[in-house]
Amino acid sequence: MGQLAFNKKTIRETDLRGKRVLLRADYNVPIKNGRITDDYRIRQSLPTVKYILEQDAKLIIISHLGRPKGPGDKEASLKPVAARLSELLGKKVAFASDCVGEEVKELAGNLQGGQVLMLENVRFHPEEEKNDAGFAKQMADDTGAEVFVQDGFGVVHRAHASTDGIARLMLAVAGFLLEKEVDTITRVMEDPARPLTALVGGAKISDKIEVLNRLIDIADCVAVGGAMANNFLVAEGHKIGKSLFEKDDMEEAKKILAKARRAERQRNFNFLLPVDVVVSTNIDGTKPTRVVDLASHSLADIESYPKKPELKSHSVLEHEMILDIGPMSAYQFAGAIRMANTVVWNGACGVTETKGIAGAHAPFEHATHIVVDAMIGPTNRHKNKPFTLVGGGDTVGYVEQEGLVEDFSHVSTGGGASLELMSGHSLPGVEVLWNKD
Ligand code: 3PG
Repeated sequence: MGQLAFNKKTIRETDLRGKRVLLRADYNVPIKNGRITDDYRIRQSLPTVKYILEQDAKLIIISHLGRPKGPGDKEASLKPVAARLSELLGKKVAFASDCVGEEVKELAGNLQGGQVLMLENVRFHPEEEKNDAGFAKQMADDTGAEVFVQDGFGVVHRAHASTDGIARLMLAVAGFLLEKEVDTITRVMEDPARPLTALVGGAKISDKIEVLNRLIDIADCVAVGGAMANNFLVAEGHKIGKSLFEKDDMEEAKKILAKARRAERQRNFNFLLPVDVVVSTNIDGTKPTRVVDLASHSLADIESYPKKPELKSHSVLEHEMILDIGPMSAYQFAGAIRMANTVVWNGACGVTETKGIAGAHAPFEHATHIVVDAMIGPTNRHKNKPFTLVGGGDTVGYVEQEGLVEDFSHVSTGGGASLELMSGHSLPGVEVLWNKD
């Protein structure tokens, strides 16, 4: 892969010594009953936080959490995040119950070099998402910030007051996480070590139309799993029973499929859809599952040998739903992954959330397990392991839960932001930062 692409000024090139620094982080982490269930985003922000503190700067951190209805929404308080950050840093993190106002003025004004203050959820103010200039100015004034540092990669696709408005009011530079994310994802999309295989899954095709279009342009192989593959299966004439699918996006799915098949004819490119699927009548794993052989019919043939296969062996019945791709598809995808020098992965192949019996894989997780093993496991005997990029959102939750983050080359902290960047869009929260001198 080529040279670094990031052209924005970073904290490395900025004199932060003794300054009052406002850091925008993306601490939008999952919290259940006041407990953080996944602190990946917090841990990923640590290099920037520590570096700023080492400069003896006075650090004020601002973030959003969820999409709160208003300030009364206790579930959306950043207090647990301040507590977790304090644990990870091994130092006190003061907390202000709002992100503007008298308390902020006082706490920020009293900060000493090397101390940290976290502000309450910026989305408690509707002005935030409206990118209200007055609100941005109030945040700047009340915190007394001299330098703005953007390190919340997960939120830079939003032009909000704390990502755009405020950056226009003072020296605005990037943190290390933002730099690493933008650099890595841009390099993979623009100058990957080939072959490049992309595995795109997850529930919704509507979220991934643009990224699929871009991947068909640049990758050597695109494999599609998850419920989003259902739109393509329908476009190919398969019946999918009660499976999840997005009716409104059928036209898009047909266009993408036609584009992919055209690319297959024109260059060395493969577009892989499931050839078999795992179905059940219930998503919670309590009902029997079976494999439906959609394309090759070889499983159906084996199952019914020496008779002619029954129709149900190769079609999804009306009351059934597709919950995973089948074993033949998983191994076909795995083959394409094993041949690659770069793998981009976004979205599971099946419903990985359904829990299995202790020790076993969840009933609809088998295919995801097979493809993950092909990316990072012992079955990948490739001389050089491929560069593996995991693009954000729910996939990261899965990788975290499996304890595999360290095994991938890059696990993005961004959901929507990483999809936007992969799709080739510019990110407003990055654009607004100062360029390198
Ligand atoms: C995310 O989780 O993708 C970011 O924190 C952005 O959140 P949002 O989609 O609510 O703007």
